[in-house]
Amino acid sequence: MLDQGAPPQQRSRTTPASPGPVARLMRRKPVEHLVAEGGQGEGGSLRRSLGLWQLTMISIGATLGTGIFVVLGEAVPKAGPAVTLSFVIAGLTALFSALSYAELAGTIPVAGSSYSYAYATMGELIAWICGWCLVLEYGVSVAAVAVGWGEYLNELLDGTIGVTIPDALSAPPGDGGIFNLPALIVVLLAMAFLLGGARESARANTVMVAVKIAALVLFCAIGVQGFRSGNYEHFMPLGMAGVSAAGATLFFSYIGFDAASTAGEEAKNAQRDLPRAIMLSLVIVTALYVLVAAVAVGAKPWQRFGDSEAALAQIMRDVTGQSFWGTLLAFCAVIAIASVVLTVLYGQTRILFAMSRDGLVPKVFSRVHPKTGTPRTNTVIVSLFCGVLAAAIPLGQLADATSIGTLFAFGLVNIAVVVLRRTRPEMPRTFRVPLSPVLPALGLAFCVWMMGSLSAVTWVVFGVWMAVGLVFYFLYGHRRSRLAAPAPSEK
Ligand code: ALA
Repeated sequence: MLDQGAPPQQRSRTTPASPGPVARLMRRKPVEHLVAEGGQGEGGSLRRSLGLWQLTMISIGATLGTGIFVVLGEAVPKAGPAVTLSFVIAGLTALFSALSYAELAGTIPVAGSSYSYAYATMGELIAWICGWCLVLEYGVSVAAVAVGWGEYLNELLDGTIGVTIPDALSAPPGDGGIFNLPALIVVLLAMAFLLGGARESARANTVMVAVKIAALVLFCAIGVQGFRSGNYEHFMPLGMAGVSAAGATLFFSYIGFDAASTAGEEAKNAQRDLPRAIMLSLVIVTALYVLVAAVAVGAKPWQRFGDSEAALAQIMRDVTGQSFWGTLLAFCAVIAIASVVLTVLYGQTRILFAMSRDGLVPKVFSRVHPKTGTPRTNTVIVSLFCGVLAAAIPLGQLADATSIGTLFAFGLVNIAVVVLRRTRPEMPRTFRVPLSPVLPALGLAFCVWMMGSLSAVTWVVFGVWMAVGLVFYFLYGHRRSRLAAPAPSEK
């Protein structure tokens, strides 16, 4: 199984006869090799069925959800009306990194996304660290998002049939409950779609994205009627520290724009469409966020945020004086957040697919079902993992852990783009980051700034997460990597 498909001269370059321990940690996977094996899994290939439209919808689907519908309500008390500025700062952090993503996704259009970019540029250990951070960005965020879904589901049930799921069954331990059943259910629903196939999931996602964009536009149209300029009088009541702390929290709402890059092996014209899908989705999402935040803070004094988990639905109700609009928004949020669960879960399965193909995680993750052309076993394992996590852990802690892992991965992507420009300047690029290396350096600086604004607890969680990942790598992936020297039995 070693280095199959690579030309002999490449094989000898990537697997020297007896590399030292440091060289083994730094071994890189040639870009040509990454691209050539695109789509190939154990026992079959992924199906190329996605065009620009679907790819853009995947990125918007993965991005727009809990962050704006739920986390906004938690961020406003940190920054006051300046939460609009926090959205811009978090958006800039995402934008610089999105430019780097767009260049790399167009050059190396493979399912592993930033994990694969790091493998091609900075070597296996950094790639592993990146992939492990992506599990935070995707796997753990699915859980966080699913928890937010449960909150809006309760709001919807309350508004329609006057019943809510009791805390014991809708909150995890530590948040006054035993088990978060709705969170588990939405993950299992997404799993059912994904098992059906990528194209079918993309179709369902497109419908859900249309609903959520319409819901946010409706929110702006109604919310603006309750706009009071007095609510903006003390714009930055908690200073710049408050603005950046809220920005770090809100960064969660931008996570997912890179999801299209995980579809690199299922895109019909990946090199052309991935950079476009990434940039397009980010522009649409940022415009919506800033508008919604501006309207929300204008319609409700910032001191009164935090009294409802379904902040936007509450504002609709207050402005109109009718519960119908709040319930309608809750219904749309339920659909909106379900599409995040679907697309982010999709992304996680594809990243693990790529890592498995490289031998860093077990082979079962790259097994492709011959009928649907999807990694079915992988999908079931990932869904069960995320479902249990969602059912058992509170949202706030999960969201911040997700942000720190994502920021770390984005930081690496900003470095990777510069490294690849130096090491492979001749490669054809369908998109180029303007002013490189200045913009990637700014992207890295913003990521570091946002990471620094997260709480000490989040850093401890991150430290423990990375330590577990490194133990796993040295016990498993390091020895089983396809770039490792062949085991005696394989010779
Ligand atoms: N950005 C995604 C959301 O806000 C994770 O739900």
